[in-house]
This record gives sequence, C-alpha cells and structure tokens, in this order.
Amino acid sequence: MTFLAAILFVAAGAQKAPDLAQTPPMGWNSWNIYACDITEDLVKEVARAIVDRGLKDAGYEYVVIDDCWHGKRDSLGFITADQEKFPSGIKALADYVHSLGLKFGIYSDAGWQTCGGRPGSRGYEYQDAMKYAEWGVDYLKYDWCNTEGLAAEGAYLTMRDALAAAGRPVLFSICEWGDNNPWLWARDIGHMWRTTGDIFDDFSGELDHGTWSSWGIMNILDMQDGLREYAGPGHWNDPDMMEVGNAMSVNEDRAHFSMWCMLASPLIVGTDIQHASDETIEILTNEEAIAVNQDKLGIQGFAHSKTDSLEIWYKPLSDGDWAVCFLNRDENDKEIEYNWNEKVVVDDFASRKIDFANIEYAIRDLWLHKDIGTTKKTLKATVPSHDVLMLRLSTK
Ligand code: GLA
Repeated sequence: MTFLAAILFVAAGAQKAPDLAQTPPMGWNSWNIYACDITEDLVKEVARAIVDRGLKDAGYEYVVIDDCWHGKRDSLGFITADQEKFPSGIKALADYVHSLGLKFGIYSDAGWQTCGGRPGSRGYEYQDAMKYAEWGVDYLKYDWCNTEGLAAEGAYLTMRDALAAAGRPVLFSICEWGDNNPWLWARDIGHMWRTTGDIFDDFSGELDHGTWSSWGIMNILDMQDGLREYAGPGHWNDPDMMEVGNAMSVNEDRAHFSMWCMLASPLIVGTDIQHASDETIEILTNEEAIAVNQDKLGIQGFAHSKTDSLEIWYKPLSDGDWAVCFLNRDENDKEIEYNWNEKVVVDDFASRKIDFANIEYAIRDLWLHKDIGTTKKTLKATVPSHDVLMLRLSTK
C-alpha cells in the first residue's frame, strides 16, 4: 500500500470485503477428510476433480486448505509453507487453483498456535494478511485455539482490518465454534461464522475428546435453533463443513445435504472428491437443492413442526416460492399424509405467510427431479428412515 492509500484506508475505516458471499459460499475444505495429511499434489488433484466431476459447474468455487500447511516463520516473522508438503510454495498452488477457474483459501488461527500446533497469527496479523495477499488467497478460515486472554470480537476485528489493509478481497470465515455468540457481533466482521463445535461423520451423537466434543449432523442441526434472524446476504451462520460421502448411508448424506441447503448454510464439501462414489457426487451436485441454498433472498429455513421424529421445514424463496423439507429422524420409514389445505405457515421474520386453503402451489420433488402435482391434493409419501422428502412449491 502506498502512503496515500494508507491514509485513505485509515480515514475511510476498514471494512470486510464487500460484495462477497451474497449467497452462501460454496467450496471444498481439506479438514474433514484429510486432517493434517495434506500436500500440494493432493490439493491439486482435488482441484482437478472439482472441475472434472462437475462440482465447479454446480457452483463450488473455493478450494481451501485447512490446518497444517504451515512451516516456520522466517527471520523477519513472515509465515512460510511446510517445505516437505508444499515444496512449490503456496503461491504456486494458488496460481494452479486459479488457473482452473477456482478460488483459493487458507487457514490460520487467532491464537499463538493453530489447533494442529502450527504457528498462529497472534501478533502477526498484518504480516500474515500481507503474505496471503501476495500469494493470491481469496478466503481465510480463522480458528480459535490457543487464544488465552484474547477477546473474540477484537481478535477477529484485528484480522478483518489486516485483510482490508492488505488490499485483496478475502472472504473471512470466523471459526470460534459459537463460543462467544458471534452472530451478535460478527455481521460486519466476517462473511460467515461457525455456530457450533466440530461436526463428525455420524447422523447423530457426541464424540467426546476429553476437553471438547464433536457432534453428529442432527445435533448440529438442533444447535441452529434461534439463529436464523442473524443470517443473510454477506453474513451466514455456518453449521460446519459437510460430511457427505465420508461414512454415512446415502439416505443420511441426502438428509444432511438437504438440511444444509434449507439452512442457507455455506456448502463446504469435506470429502475425497477424486474417489467419491457417483451417489455422493450426485448429492453434492443436485442443482435443484443447491438452488434452494443459493436463493438470492438468503433467508434461512425454519422447522414449522416437529412431531414423532418427523420435522417439516420451510424456507421462503424468491418469486413467492418455498422449499419444504420433510425430515425423518426415526429408525423406521414413515408414511406421511400431509393435507396442505389445513395448513397455515407464518414466517414473521421474512414477513411471509401461506394459507394453503387460499392458494395453490405446484410441487416439485427436488431429489426425483419430478413435478408431483399441486397443494390442492393431500400429499401421500413414504419418507425413508434418516432421509428427506425435499420439495419446491411454486405459485401457479
Ligand atoms: C478446529 C476447527 C476445525 C479444523 C481444526 C483444525 O477444530 O473447528 O474445523 O479447522 O481446528 O485443526
């Protein structure tokens, strides 16, 4: 930055990169599947697979390397890459990812060390942001390990300002696990914020790690209660990266993906794209489900009813449409008979209402990719165990 630019920057006040994440960010992140076992060759293969297997065409954009890419700081304090894993350096990797028409993301931590024990950014925020800009980084996930004595809002503000000062627009992903209620203060600081602890690849349950736990898909879903009013274009609740394709059944993967679409969650894939099954790829690239997630209104869905392990979720969409998702959390399949005409759906937050007795919608099944009638007729269907029936209602 020139001296004049620096003065203008300070006078204008820093802000997060504007215009990014107007719809929930979509991409891939290395952590859920590879943890610390990442190399530049692996990331390049993934980036190629994102293109070759249709994820780029479906809207996935960011290729993000999570923890453990770091080497030591150099004699001037600048961060370097782990030379064994990334011998060509991060800039070369970012250039490669860009050459495929994708964007490149990286990970750091507000504390002195990352969760994986690599150098954190505490005290080096401006230097790190400069390096990221030099390397061509488009996305920063910023974690919260080893932050004793730091206040979260201030720490994330410092990095936001450092990124702004470095002059390259960077999508800023806040990852403090919801510990400090980021939805109350992060709207102007980051583009998305984690709302929970880490996800793990089971439909429901808790994985106890001693001092912390990770959570199954349904547990994470339940923790989103009460947060929808904080999300919107440019600032999203982040219920964590997806586990689709990692260990669950196809039904469970479909339910997981559908609910992340209903939540207007960032869609960050966490699986081995090169070797994923065709079913996994089909789930991740379902453009009709993705359209629900990416709807330009950017309104997070809500549970309209929860009875006997059957939840019915609604999400207002643009042009008067709605997404509706029947989620079966039970161990057994469920027969449903849903008489739309008796239902009234009121969404005060979005100022939207449906009185089905007075309006008829055409219904499309977003997994069968089929029109299945209208809301004038009672809907009869079977929702398999741990699966969904995901619909789009359109005004006729
Ligand atoms: C934390 C984050 C995870 C991942 C790991 C990396 O647990 O919440 O998403 O980034 O750190 O060490």
